[in-house]
Amino acid sequence: MPATPSEIVEAAKAQRRTLRPALLAWFDHNKRELPWRDTRDPYAIWVSEVMLQQTQVDRVIAYYQRFLERFPTVKSLASAEVSDVLSLWSGLGYYSRARNLHKAAVELDSRHHGTLPSTVEALRTLPGFGRYTAGAVASIAFDQEAPLVDGNVARVLSRLFEIDGAPQDKTREATLWELATLLVKGERPGDLNQSLMELGATVCTPASPTCLLCPVQTHCR
Ligand code: ADE
Repeated sequence: MPATPSEIVEAAKAQRRTLRPALLAWFDHNKRELPWRDTRDPYAIWVSEVMLQQTQVDRVIAYYQRFLERFPTVKSLASAEVSDVLSLWSGLGYYSRARNLHKAAVELDSRHHGTLPSTVEALRTLPGFGRYTAGAVASIAFDQEAPLVDGNVARVLSRLFEIDGAPQDKTREATLWELATLLVKGERPGDLNQSLMELGATVCTPASPTCLLCPVQTHCR
């Protein structure tokens, strides 16, 4: 019989102490070298996370580098014409991402002296900041214990804890966020979140996952 959501959460509570170090050690040794992993600049991390939402890592790299060369700071983005921002985005698709990035930069420039706030609550008031983006920026740029769930994390967690249900199922969604919240608590929350995304992108892939290379294989349902 499949476990209930509360049984799953209890199991995760019992396992978090072994899962976290395994995930973090795996991430340290196996993470891809990516340009946004060389920086602690919240603005650069924000730009990368917005680009990565609907676009594969390989495609994002060149766009990210060009974008930051042209708009290296919140202020420079805020003072740009939106048409220039869109032309730099050309080819990436989902142009509302670029419009919102620009809008948020304008707000940050006028309200926050061009700096990003560090909490999920404050980030969520900005254009384009949904639950995922706020969690990513708060955890990766500001070391906040803020959870995130994207497609990769959802797949990893649903395999690890055997969570059933259709992708849009509300109960499943709530369970996934609760698990992500449990797991992110502790040291290095940004790396923990990235370890789940990275595992989903490189090992726990949709078809033929490489379970033999998985750091949490022995815990996986
Ligand atoms: N997908 C989106 N953001 C990511 C990140 N920071 N690391 C790995 N995969 C990602």
